[in-house]
Amino acid sequence: MKHEPEIEAWSRYWAANRLDSCISGQGIEDEADINALWASFVQDTPDNSRLIDLAAGNGAVSIRLLTQAQAHGKTLAVDAVDQAIIDPARHLKNHSAIAAQIMFHAETDISALPFKEATFDGAVSQFGFEYAPQKAAAKEMLRILKPGAHFQLLIHHANSALVAPNVQKITYITGLLAKGGPVEAAHTYLTSPPDKQAAALEALEQIGQQTLAAYSAQPPAIIQEIFGAISQLVQRSDLRFSVRAKAAVDMEGRLRAEAERMRQLAAAALDADQIRSLGDRLSQAGATELAITELYIGTDKALLGWLVCGKK
Ligand SMILES: C[S@@+](CC[C@H](N)C(=O)[O-])C[C@H]1O[C@@H](n2cnc3c(N)ncnc32)[C@H](O)[C@@H]1O
Repeated sequence: MKHEPEIEAWSRYWAANRLDSCISGQGIEDEADINALWASFVQDTPDNSRLIDLAAGNGAVSIRLLTQAQAHGKTLAVDAVDQAIIDPARHLKNHSAIAAQIMFHAETDISALPFKEATFDGAVSQFGFEYAPQKAAAKEMLRILKPGAHFQLLIHHANSALVAPNVQKITYITGLLAKGGPVEAAHTYLTSPPDKQAAALEALEQIGQQTLAAYSAQPPAIIQEIFGAISQLVQRSDLRFSVRAKAAVDMEGRLRAEAERMRQLAAAALDADQIRSLGDRLSQAGATELAITELYIGTDKALLGWLVCGKK
């Protein structure tokens, strides 16, 4: 498979010991509601079923399914598919034991699944299904489900509390990476020969001050984070040239990947018309008992996404 930037961005993300992409660290206080969502799916799943987690990342949902099944004395087999290069048993520090019980399929597109018809008793997806071409993904999911099998998809909602702040991040990252911006200035400083370092540092400090002056209150978290990383690197004059140069390139790469993931999130989030059209595609592919609702979670009832449930 070709590793285009959109796949590369996720591969990089999952290699960094992350369990969730859109739940942890996103201001979602109440994970209990998310656990309950997947617990109820397990409850409705017969013992000894085989389930598939579509666009699974490092298996956040698969892990929740298995944890719930074990708590209720059920045996489930879970396959988890993602088009990114994933290796959770290696990359997930705190969940490697349970990740080892999941059959992960890396570099696998959910719109062209390598499974026979009627293989699975259920399919799930958490902020993943909507990233794939919808018609093909719907057709594939219904093809690999057994008659009577059920599915539950949590889909990005265009108005959800998750989408706007993440999309806003693209603007901040674009500013950080702009020509003549802070990241370029940091790169120049970190790769300057000794006789040019003082001037490069002065330029970097000036750009830093200009950037911060644009914010009357606290600058956004991503800007604080990058400025913190730059300042740490500046202080490490003991580092070898090659290490400093690599750190500068890594910082740029990480920011580009982050912006790419946010662009994908913005494109994947569906409004009311788009979710209706996804519902139509699922029905055309053979889904029945389709129920599409808005999912609100936590004590403040924040809109998390669309919940799409149905059967084959
Ligand atoms: C927002 S993440 C969600 C991951 C996981 N379900 C979770 O909740 O943490 C979206 C995932 O969709 C994957 N993805 C995007 N398009 C895909 C496709 N066509 N086939 C398989 N995976 C895809 C990405 O690689 C990424 O891991």
